[in-house]
Amino acid sequence: MTVTTGTTAVTGAVGTAHTRVEGRDKVTGAARYAGEIPFADLAHGWLVLSTVARGRVRAVETGPVLAMPGVLAVLHHGNAPRVESEYMGPLGPPDPILQVFQHDRVPHFNWPVALVVAETSEQAREAAEALTVQYDEEPHDVAFSADHPGLYTPGEIMGQAPDTEKGDLEERLAASAVVVDERYTTPEEHHNPMEPHAATACWDGGRLEVVDSNQGSTLVAQELAHLFSLDAKSVRVRSEHVGGGFGSKAVRPHQVAAVMAATMLHRPVRVVLTRRQMFSLVGYRSPTEQHIRLGADADGRLLALDHQAFSLTSTFREFVEFSGGVSRVMYDAEAHRTAHRLVRLDMPTPSWMRAPGEAPGSFAMESAVDELAERCGIDPIELRVRNEPAAGPVSGLPFATRRVLDCFEKGARRFGWADRDPRPGVRRDGRWLLGTGTAAGSFPVLAAPSSAAVTAEADGAFTVRITAADIGTGARTALTLIAADALEVAPDRVRVQIGDSDFGPATLAGGSMGTRSWGWAVTRAAGELREQLALGGTIPPQGITVRADTSEVIGALAAKERHSFGAQFAEVAVDVASGEVRVRRMLGVFAAGKIVNPLTARGQLVGGMIWGLSMALHEEAVRDRASGAVVGADLAGYHFSANADIPHIEADWVDDPDPDDPVGIKGIGEVGIVGAAAAIANAVWHATGVRHRNLPIRPDRVIAAGGGAA
Ligand code: MOS
Repeated sequence: MTVTTGTTAVTGAVGTAHTRVEGRDKVTGAARYAGEIPFADLAHGWLVLSTVARGRVRAVETGPVLAMPGVLAVLHHGNAPRVESEYMGPLGPPDPILQVFQHDRVPHFNWPVALVVAETSEQAREAAEALTVQYDEEPHDVAFSADHPGLYTPGEIMGQAPDTEKGDLEERLAASAVVVDERYTTPEEHHNPMEPHAATACWDGGRLEVVDSNQGSTLVAQELAHLFSLDAKSVRVRSEHVGGGFGSKAVRPHQVAAVMAATMLHRPVRVVLTRRQMFSLVGYRSPTEQHIRLGADADGRLLALDHQAFSLTSTFREFVEFSGGVSRVMYDAEAHRTAHRLVRLDMPTPSWMRAPGEAPGSFAMESAVDELAERCGIDPIELRVRNEPAAGPVSGLPFATRRVLDCFEKGARRFGWADRDPRPGVRRDGRWLLGTGTAAGSFPVLAAPSSAAVTAEADGAFTVRITAADIGTGARTALTLIAADALEVAPDRVRVQIGDSDFGPATLAGGSMGTRSWGWAVTRAAGELREQLALGGTIPPQGITVRADTSEVIGALAAKERHSFGAQFAEVAVDVASGEVRVRRMLGVFAAGKIVNPLTARGQLVGGMIWGLSMALHEEAVRDRASGAVVGADLAGYHFSANADIPHIEADWVDDPDPDDPVGIKGIGEVGIVGAAAAIANAVWHATGVRHRNLPIRPDRVIAAGGGAA
């Protein structure tokens, strides 16, 4: 048949609410996740993790365990296949924890020391728990502090210098009418998505096949190819449905261990992490201490800004929680400094966790800005208006768009900010003290090269294939709408297939850049296909496929400050006798590019805001100094906000299309959390008159701090 597109000029899918295209499969249980996809002859691996925080493995007593029912093998440093250690992978040199079972050293508690493989998952677990591993233990240090003797200046942080400085900071501080000089802390935090990490590896002829739960199958395939010295085309990684990632679902030890076991046993092997293991193996957010100094004239105009951020890394890999980055974007001052310091501890390497850097960085800076407003006697929104920079404070580059003040204007109107009594600690509702707070947020707008293929099928449908990942964001649906508009057809004629590295290289679901990067490639491929079809002709039985790649166009993007922005508002009720803080309502207004699907976008933004609430009031991993372990490493011991903690939360936005992106997309995955915790902390101050500079704002801290007109 003859297929044309655009005959009815069907466009406008982008910007219209659409339920998830795989929603029915998910709610009926038809959608299968990595740990439940059937495989013939499947064996199950169970990781054994170290019980010491530092030392060497002296012996792995495999004998008794190998005699247990169903046990097939015990992999450890004495018998595991060797992997490559010297290469440049997709994200740089390999993470040493991916050198699974290659040596006897233990650099942190719950380091992987063995994999027990058995016929069933239960047999593997039973045997793994019975396995005796002997260690030569060494003293360890897990005590993070900003005055640790091991502090050092890290190398580049994602291409940016660890420190930036302009102007004479001490002179400008001395010349300031008002100074804020305070320290803020945030604790160790864990992402722990609902679906645990799971990977199944098998060999199909000479090809390695991995079914996984990840944020980017290209990334996982490339890393595994490097590790096992395989041609990139000899590795296929699939990840169709993913139950959350938040930065944790990259290449982690379990995928490597599964491949090793499948190689040794010549059959498919599945390794699933337990909730408890996730607290050690998939990354986390470093605790931070941040020292902020702000100096302003009597009108609240910044003369000096100093943001020093301290965080930890492991002894074997450098990761910097880039807390000062947000201050390089949000505020300018005649003297301006940001600095990052690290300390190496006997801990797992921290990793990306939703809004890495911006989440803790904005808590400190946006709290300090609120303190400055208080001391200047200026409304905190007006103070931000007076300090709105014309260009990137550190880069000097123009902003692609910067509509943060429009977010405040719209948010203030919707929230009812104009009636706010600035005095702290004076509003009561029975036992509750009431307060409101606000804060700004931003997150970088990134894009990475990706490839996509779009096929016009002979039956009139269109198939999009791209190695994208939908980690719960709604990316699959967003790409359906984007493709529909680019093809000028209704969305129900478009089928999007994702999560298969055989579809060609594409970037990961991270850095809030997935939908923007993939949408770009899909738009190009679909646009070219539409032009071809416009010439007329018949579609052959195999369809007509057009591939596109965005490497060149993204490489040619002009240097600009590209960011999403937001204004966060919160109202809280605080009982200083019981220590309870209840958030009564939250509103976030965002300038975050073209909103592709308002339904799922709202979910992304509100989800981020809820995480900010959780960060403000609940989340805190406690590290036991004696053992080096997280205390209560499960979702009962690690406290986070549940439904009963979450009030009326609204997310809204202002029109803010990105001028360079073909659809106008910026990215919404992370900006929702940024500033949310500060807005709540600022509201707690407004309620009680007491500043809480240490997160979470726990009941014991509220009781100890007191507040209100006592
Ligand atoms: Mo996100 S922390 O970039 O997966």
